[in-house]
Amino acid sequence: MAKRPTYTAISPGRVNLIGEHTDYAGGLVLPMATDLHTRLDAEPAEPVTVSSAALDERRSFDPADVEPDGTWLDYVKGCYAALQREGYDPGGFVGELTGTLPVGAGLSSSASLELSVVALLNEAYGLGLSREQMARVARRAENEFVGVSCGIMDQFAVALGRDGHALSIDTGTREYEPVPIPEDVRIVVFDTGVERRLAESPYEQRRETVETALDALDADSSTELSQADLDELPPVQRRRLGYVLAENDRVRRAERALAAGELDRFGGLLLDAHRDLADRYEASCPELDYVVETAVEHGAYGARLTGAGWGGAAIAVVDESRAESFAHGLHDAYRDRFPERDASSHFVTPSAGVRVLDR
Ligand code: GLA
Repeated sequence: MAKRPTYTAISPGRVNLIGEHTDYAGGLVLPMATDLHTRLDAEPAEPVTVSSAALDERRSFDPADVEPDGTWLDYVKGCYAALQREGYDPGGFVGELTGTLPVGAGLSSSASLELSVVALLNEAYGLGLSREQMARVARRAENEFVGVSCGIMDQFAVALGRDGHALSIDTGTREYEPVPIPEDVRIVVFDTGVERRLAESPYEQRRETVETALDALDADSSTELSQADLDELPPVQRRRLGYVLAENDRVRRAERALAAGELDRFGGLLLDAHRDLADRYEASCPELDYVVETAVEHGAYGARLTGAGWGGAAIAVVDESRAESFAHGLHDAYRDRFPERDASSHFVTPSAGVRVLDR
């Protein structure tokens, strides 16, 4: 019997450079896919059996009968449920999850896992999905099955990332464009060791507030509005949506600064974005604020929390020549200030979106 084909899906994480909490308000974002990735080695088989090297677990389910069970397997089951709702019926696989992407550090490990599965099934069962469609399926898995009502940013970045580039995405129109990242900068991701789970954070509450404000103003997307339109809103809605509008504007300016290689200006916008997110959106925490302020004191062009906030990771943008000593200095300072936290940092390189190698 011929040996069955074996597939390897490499699915990146994502780091958002700027444009936080805008993707559920049809706003602008500037994420990139990372070289830190999830790897899924698999071959078609029935039913579905997945093992996770990090968790040292192996689990199975029947793809014809998927129900959430509250474990990491829901990210895999959710992909089947979402594909089935869209009219696809892929078979099972046996696979092993490994990789370099830290879980729960604000680097989109869930979107990365979902896209490794969707891309694998797309390839192994010839589903013919485009990258945009794969992103949409993965988001459906997260929204409708896992039960986290995230926006489209993470899945889009993981599906459509480009080597050496960030992606400028208008989440309202779904138009996107690659923006080159200068080669002489390094991006440091600093995980504060403060765990946060989206489902237990104020994420849903923020989302509801912003959606209610958009409805009250009869707007489909935050990009249609200006600050003056917000005058009639109750104070909390005005503050939150006011932040979103300002963030959209910062994304536009940050793209221009990046394209022009004006890194001081770019970094300044990152810092403004962090402070506004901490202040008007109340999405930071003392550890993240400390990392951001200390990163700038240690010579970063700019820094900000990345991802949802309330813990997880911050990014710092630094000149290549000082990147190593910068990361050490930041670590030492953080350890002195928060000795109880298990922090870690990584350099990330802007990378291509999910890909499947057919061996
Ligand atoms: C999480 C969500 C994203 C986005 C960010 C905040 O990462 O998954 O869709 O809303 O938070 O910008």
